[in-house]
Amino acid sequence: MSNKILEVKNLVTGYQGKDGFMKPVDGVSFDIEKGETICIVGESGSGKSVTSMSIMRLVEFENGRILDGQILFCGEELSKKSNEEMRQIRGSKISMIFQEPLTALNPVFTIGKQITEAILFHRSMGKKEAWLRAEELVRLVGISDPKQRLKQYPHELSGGMRQRAMIAIALASEPDLLIADEPTTALDVTIEAQILELLRSLREERGMSIMLITHDIGVAAEMANRIIIMYAGKVMEVAETKDLFDQPLHPYSKGLLESVPRMDGERGVPLKSISGSIPRLNEVPPGCRFSPRCPFVTDKCHKQEPALEKRGTRQVACWHVDELFEKDLLAIKTEGGVPIES
Ligand SMILES: Nc1ncnc2c1ncn2[C@@H]1O[C@H](COP(=O)(O)OP(=O)(O)O)[C@@H](O)[C@H]1O
Ligand SMILES: [Mg+2]
Repeated sequence: MSNKILEVKNLVTGYQGKDGFMKPVDGVSFDIEKGETICIVGESGSGKSVTSMSIMRLVEFENGRILDGQILFCGEELSKKSNEEMRQIRGSKISMIFQEPLTALNPVFTIGKQITEAILFHRSMGKKEAWLRAEELVRLVGISDPKQRLKQYPHELSGGMRQRAMIAIALASEPDLLIADEPTTALDVTIEAQILELLRSLREERGMSIMLITHDIGVAAEMANRIIIMYAGKVMEVAETKDLFDQPLHPYSKGLLESVPRMDGERGVPLKSISGSIPRLNEVPPGCRFSPRCPFVTDKCHKQEPALEKRGTRQVACWHVDELFEKDLLAIKTEGGVPIES
C-alpha cells in the first residue's frame, strides 16, 4: 500500500483576471508521506496559497479553476468527488489553517460554538460532551482560561489567540492532513515559536501529516522533513531539509538560503541576495521563470523551460544543475583552497 497521503501531479490552476487569463499555478507536482511535514517555500506571489486552495477545492469559490493535473488524497482523486463529498473531506480528513484567522473565523458565533460545530460535524456525541471536548482542545492549543474563552467572539481575542482558536477548529475534526498557510506570519516571534512547537507536538502525538506554507526558510528549517521550493507557479527544487541546507542545488534555493533573516532581523524584508522581484502573472518570462534574476543564466535559460528532474533523492528544475552541482562538490572537497585527495 502506498505510504503517500497526498499526491499532486502536474497541477495547473487558472483565474480569469482583469488583464486576461492567468495561471498562478502552472504544472506543480509533489507528494506528502503519511506522518511527514513538508514545507512549501517561496516568495510572496509564488502560487503557494493557490496550490493549497486547489487541494481543498476552494479555488472554485473565487472564480478560479483547476485546469489540469491530478490531486490524489489517500489514492483517491479529489476532482472526482462531488461538492458534498468534498465538504465531508474538508470537515474531517483535511483541515486548513489560513494566514488571517479573522477572515476564516465566523464573526457572529462564539469560539466555543465554532469548535463544537467542527467536532459534531465528524463525530456523533451530545452537545455537552462536545463542549467539554472543545475545552480540552482549546487548552491543548495553549489558550488559558478555556471556559471563559469559549464564550467569546473572534473580535474579542488577540491575533495570537485567534490563530490558536483556528488551529483548535482545524484539529477538532482530527484530520489526517493539516494544511497550514503561513499560520504564523501575522504573529510576533514568541507566539510564532509556540505555535510551531504546538504543530510539531501534534505531528508527533497524532502522526498527522502537515503541509506548511511559509515564505520564511528559517521556519522550514525547523519544521520540515522535506522542502519544496516554489517560484512563479513552478516547483524549482524538492529536497530533504538537511540536504537542502547542506547544499542547495537550484540558484533560487541558494538565494533563499543566503537571505535567511537573522534572529534579531526584520521580518518580511525583501531578499538581499537575489536582485529583482518575482514576475507579475501577465509578465512571466519565456524559458526558465527565474532566468531574469539568475546569476548563472545563459541563452538557453531564456529560451527553454527546464523540467523538474531527479538528482539522486532530490528534484531540480535548472539547466545548469550538473555544473553547479559539480562546482559545489568541488568546493566541498576543497578545504581552504587545498584540494583533498579523493
Ligand atoms: N482569486 C484570485 N484571482 C486572481 N488571481 C489570483 C487569485 N488568487 C491569487 N491570485 C494570484 O495568483 C498569484 C499567486 O498567488 P498566491 O498563491 O496567493 O501566492 P503566495 O501564496 O505564494 O504568496 C498572485 O499573483 C495572485 O495575485
Ligand atoms: Mg499566500
